[in-house]
Amino acid sequence: MLTKVKRGWELPESAATPEDVFHQRRTLAKAIAAGPILAAAGPLLAAAPAFAAKGEEATADLYPVMQNKNYVLDRELTPEKEVVTFNNFYEFGSHKQIARAAQKMPIDPWTIRIQGLVEEEREIDFDTLVRSMPLEERLYRHRCVEAWSMAVPWSGFPMKNLIDMARPLGSAKYVIMETLADADTMSGLRQPWYPWPYIEGLTMAEATNELAFMVTGLYGKPVPKQNGAPLRLAVPWKYGFKSIKSIVSLTFAEGRPATYWEKIQPSEYGFWANVNPEVPHPRWTQATERPLGKKERDRVPTLLYNGYTEFVAHLYDGLENEPLYM
Ligand code: MTE
Repeated sequence: MLTKVKRGWELPESAATPEDVFHQRRTLAKAIAAGPILAAAGPLLAAAPAFAAKGEEATADLYPVMQNKNYVLDRELTPEKEVVTFNNFYEFGSHKQIARAAQKMPIDPWTIRIQGLVEEEREIDFDTLVRSMPLEERLYRHRCVEAWSMAVPWSGFPMKNLIDMARPLGSAKYVIMETLADADTMSGLRQPWYPWPYIEGLTMAEATNELAFMVTGLYGKPVPKQNGAPLRLAVPWKYGFKSIKSIVSLTFAEGRPATYWEKIQPSEYGFWANVNPEVPHPRWTQATERPLGKKERDRVPTLLYNGYTEFVAHLYDGLENEPLYM
């Protein structure tokens, strides 16, 4: 059933950023920040699509960052234009064209609360956090439960680094994350039948797995608001709804949280939500997916754990009785 192409995530060289281009872009980005834009910058810095990050963000100087070559893909990257204009971010509406509305979200300053079962509860300023973390770029696949997918260059840092910084107690079994709920700028919050704020959770083993990644950038720039600025999660072996955006708190707890989608429709969305092509969702086949920017006829097979089996399958040993794939 599964088409295993080489190792699950090997990337054609053409899609990776060569190291010399990384260095040229960094130098150019610094030159541009320092003074008038050089005409010569044109061919290297492609025109930003509408709603891409503009380079005026407070952390723009940090990007691009070096790519970690341990995480490669089996397909080409999705065009940036598709990724920044086709979004799920229900706080701004239950349709995909929320990019313009999301620009109103206030993200500077941004504080992340660390609470619950930790040695000491505290608040961390995002700017301080991102400047203290080892930033890297990772090429990851992303598979939405709606059966579309994308392949993107996220920048950020391992979630384990944030967990270590939070110093959870040994009794903590889960980490629960919450999205900003700002009624002034998020029109979706006027729909009271949705259980705001958006909440997601991981087991401690999942959160400290090497694939769990805190995203701060996308396509070599700060992550745009519609994609979850300034801090979102990427857990690429799970359906996309687990990758919570615009995180304002991490709560460490002993009990499993009821997550946003689970509260809305528990028969369709569960806590684990690991990608599995053989377990259909009531409304969408999970056997295949449409990469963003491609036609229906270009659908590709979906892979178990979205192709990341070797990294994560062991996390679920002994949990076979759990509904791991919904
Ligand atoms: N996080 C919040 N706070 N609100 C949301 O509606 N949608 C999820 C996830 N994170 C969502 C969210 C879903 S269903 C998907 S597929 C991804 O974000 C989409 O991420 P993207 O818009 O960057 O492609």
